[in-house]
Amino acid sequence: MKTLFDTTHVENMVLKNRFIRAAIGEKTTDGHVNQYILDLYTNLAQGGVGTMITGFTLVDESEKSYPIMAFYDDSFADGHRSLTNTAHSLNANIILQLVYVGSYVMGNAAGVTVLAPSAVENLNKKTIPKEISLEEIKNIQNKFANAALRAKNAGYDGIEIHAAHGFLLSQFMTPYYNRRNDLYGGSTPNRARMALETYEAIRKAVGNDYPVWIKINVVDGIEDGVSFDDVLYLCNELSNKGIDAIEISGNWKSRENQSAYFKDEAEAIASKNKTAVILTGGNNDFKEMTEILNTTKISYFGMARALAKYPDLINKFVKENT
Ligand SMILES: Cc1cc2nc3c(=O)[nH]c(=O)nc-3n(C[C@H](O)[C@H](O)[C@H](O)COP(=O)(O)O)c2cc1C
Repeated sequence: MKTLFDTTHVENMVLKNRFIRAAIGEKTTDGHVNQYILDLYTNLAQGGVGTMITGFTLVDESEKSYPIMAFYDDSFADGHRSLTNTAHSLNANIILQLVYVGSYVMGNAAGVTVLAPSAVENLNKKTIPKEISLEEIKNIQNKFANAALRAKNAGYDGIEIHAAHGFLLSQFMTPYYNRRNDLYGGSTPNRARMALETYEAIRKAVGNDYPVWIKINVVDGIEDGVSFDDVLYLCNELSNKGIDAIEISGNWKSRENQSAYFKDEAEAIASKNKTAVILTGGNNDFKEMTEILNTTKISYFGMARALAKYPDLINKFVKENT
């Protein structure tokens, strides 16, 4: 029987248990890692979680007014190096999550040229973006690649591409937001192209052996959202191209009081691909996660709010179950 405390490998990365801290965007006014962030990850690592995914981190200076971490140039490197040293000194892995925000703007978007696949008003934020040009698409892919290489040099155990939750890469997959009629819109392969090319640009920059993960939406929760066939296509292509792990997410905000709510989709994806699958959203029940682990091919469990509330939860699981 598999257990949540198994030591496993995702390609050449060792995970000391199957618990993963799912990303929670940390506030910082200037993009730099600060003492609050260092203390937060110290607490999480001391609480026993094997692998921590950071909050989303900006890859492009054009979004620098957003109050989250950034790594679009080397001025941020010392802070990131402190963060990876902190995690490693406590025997935890740390993965940097990379994002281009786009029309789901964060905080003050004054002065930002807000980009999206098409000039469609954001349903949540009511921003009206500019349609991204082909040149801007390539530029953003390069920004992801450059930030990933910086992350590797700063000691992160891997990076995760944020292609979920309505940010730029996920909007490309979503017909409602992507009304393009060029190579990046229309058919499933065209809408998946942005995520796939971004992955390929990152892979080229960091090399074949460096862990590259991705977080995707399996449900958008809007009319004309991503279809499950789209999702299966994307996962299959990512898997064939060598992505190391796929974290399953979606419209988590409307799933209050449910548990493991993307299990069915994650199970279907895990059964069709050889790539490691992380199920995130509503995980906090030890028995339920153990059951899912042993009845599906899902290998890992992401937890965001449970660990925010109880950073010591994994140690508690160990005490109660070993
Ligand atoms: C305050 C807050 C901030 C979040 N920030 C991020 C983020 O930076 N990147 C991300 O992929 N997901 C983010 N999420 C979503 C979580 O990673 C996770 O997908 C979601 O909370 C569902 O998991 P949970 O039920 O374990 O909380 C955030 C969630 C919360 C509550």
